[in-house]
Amino acid sequence: MIVNIFLLIFGIYEITTALKCSFAKKPPQGCARFGVMTDMHYYPANLVNCNSPVYQNYLKQDAKLTEESGAVIDAAINAMLACEVEFVILAGDLTNEGEKQSHLELAELLHKFTQKGIQVFVTPGNHDINNRLAMSYLNNEQTPIDTINEHDFEEIYYNFGFKQAYSRDVDTLSYCARVKEGLNIITIDANQYKNNKDKPLPDGILSDDSVTWAENEIRSSLKRGERIIGVMHHGLVEHFENQGKSFRAFLVNDFDKIGQRLVEAGLDFVFTGHLHAQDISSAIYNGKSITDIETAALTSVPFAWRLCCINHDELIIETRYIDEIDFDYGSDLPFRKWATQRVWEGLLELEAYFLKQYNGLTEEQTKIAAPYYARAFMAHFCGDENPSQEDKEFYLKHKNDPQSPYYEVAKIFSALWTDLPDSDNDLTLHLRHID
Ligand SMILES: [Fe+2]
Repeated sequence: MIVNIFLLIFGIYEITTALKCSFAKKPPQGCARFGVMTDMHYYPANLVNCNSPVYQNYLKQDAKLTEESGAVIDAAINAMLACEVEFVILAGDLTNEGEKQSHLELAELLHKFTQKGIQVFVTPGNHDINNRLAMSYLNNEQTPIDTINEHDFEEIYYNFGFKQAYSRDVDTLSYCARVKEGLNIITIDANQYKNNKDKPLPDGILSDDSVTWAENEIRSSLKRGERIIGVMHHGLVEHFENQGKSFRAFLVNDFDKIGQRLVEAGLDFVFTGHLHAQDISSAIYNGKSITDIETAALTSVPFAWRLCCINHDELIIETRYIDEIDFDYGSDLPFRKWATQRVWEGLLELEAYFLKQYNGLTEEQTKIAAPYYARAFMAHFCGDENPSQEDKEFYLKHKNDPQSPYYEVAKIFSALWTDLPDSDNDLTLHLRHID
């Protein structure tokens, strides 16, 4: 009887877990499950006095969660473990502003995977290394604290990619590692931490030598009949019209030339982050396609990570959301509803600042345009954008009127709302044939 009850409970648990983690599209046999999270911007809650005006002021222009980040990451880790992923990819901006303490504590959290034999592969983002914005917010003061250099990064995350690496680029933290039989990973680090001064440089640069290293590794992997997964922090393919002009810093410099070289070498797809959006978009060079699978910041709207499965022929990509965290955020609202409201308020402030500072709008004009800007970005963060009649009317009216004070920004709103082909949240990619 006891055995029967145990079997029943265990059976229900198994079914619940399986349902929670089942793919909408059933993966084929032999498909390797993995998780992708990025731009978690981890920040230890004990580095802040949450009530201090200095910290509250800092948060005003922050479109993500900060002191709650550890709880959000923990929820994602638990969800991935429940989904029985075989490996995990982190595409940069692991920490808030490259604080040494954040890196050390995050590495501890990631051990939850390695303790269960699940491999983790990390690459840095522009905020992670040599960042003078690393601060604590205790005693109502902003105080500089230790950041790390590239050697520290490699040491802290040794077990999360560098140990497994069979090839390293000499100039960057890029590496190639074996994931399992017939499957490799290449991380391509275009960050400019060596040139950072007062702030981390947002744009990404790759030398000709680093691109040549990547081309050679991709070719050799395919020659051996081994599929290769690409990972970068910076985007490789434009995610909206004219991104290369209006938001160039979120793409690697010369993205089209580098994209062409990598696709010719045999790369089918790359997981990216940086602009904090759920957006998948492809470029075609000489009839060969390369897909950039950007994932949103885990600690911002829509609080998502990717559950994927790869086999010899296809890559299944689905989106999973964080609905609950183990943290008292001081509200009865469900986590995502509360957190979305918090991000919305930060985003409104942030966009108002940009509209005044960079687009020269008056206070009154900023008040009108900021909600349109914030809504366009929120929609882009969530993916599969679909503008309301009001938003559409605003950008269509002003982007076609060079006399309008909103002429320039309306073109950006329009681009953000216009979703390029490729479904952003759930998609199956058919991979090119390898022998
Ligand atoms: Fe980021």
